[in-house]
Amino acid sequence: MKRLEEYVRSIPDFPEEGIIFRDVTSVLQDPDGLALAIDSLKEKLKDIDFDIIAGTESRGFIFGVPVAYALHKAFVPIRKKGKLPCDTISESYDLEYGSATIEMHRDAVSPGDRVVLIDDLIATGGTIKACIHMIEALGGKVEKIVFLMELAGLNGREQLKGYDVDSVIIYG
Ligand code: PRP
Ligand code: ADE
Ligand code: MG
Repeated sequence: MKRLEEYVRSIPDFPEEGIIFRDVTSVLQDPDGLALAIDSLKEKLKDIDFDIIAGTESRGFIFGVPVAYALHKAFVPIRKKGKLPCDTISESYDLEYGSATIEMHRDAVSPGDRVVLIDDLIATGGTIKACIHMIEALGGKVEKIVFLMELAGLNGREQLKGYDVDSVIIYG
């Protein structure tokens, strides 16, 4: 059986020179790769008590929803600016390439809710830190953060001191 890292395609100089893009489409387009990815994320949560999985558009949706479904938890979508119809909280942040603003519905997390964050990848940590800020501003507690891939060289974990963080694949 192949290891998960063998399903990930690495593309040099995308979307900018100097970036090695870790492409998950090659994981998704193989049924064994997809199953291994979801099972690996699920495994990381086996000892965690929580209520909600939150994931960020777009790739956080791909991996967050199947894990939430498999564990019978709610899923909260954190979306790019301007997409959510009800009252929102928002946060802007910088990425490995570019910057962005994300939003979530204020009624998606209530005080005391125990939230797990899932994303495909941590690079600088900007995206996940913005997610944490919003969840905590709404009174939620971040119980665990799980990534399929971590780009350790970008030190994203430095932004996440004090949180329970785990990654399936770590790139040095
Ligand atoms: C990518 C990736 C993570 C984020 C990580 O998302 O899916 O969400 O970057 O980078 P960071 O740790 O530096 O914040 P992107 O914003 O490119 O959008 P996508 O998920 O819609 O492809
Ligand atoms: N998001 C931010 N940096 C990335 C990278 N190097 N590969 C894939 N997605 C990313
Ligand atoms: Mg993303």
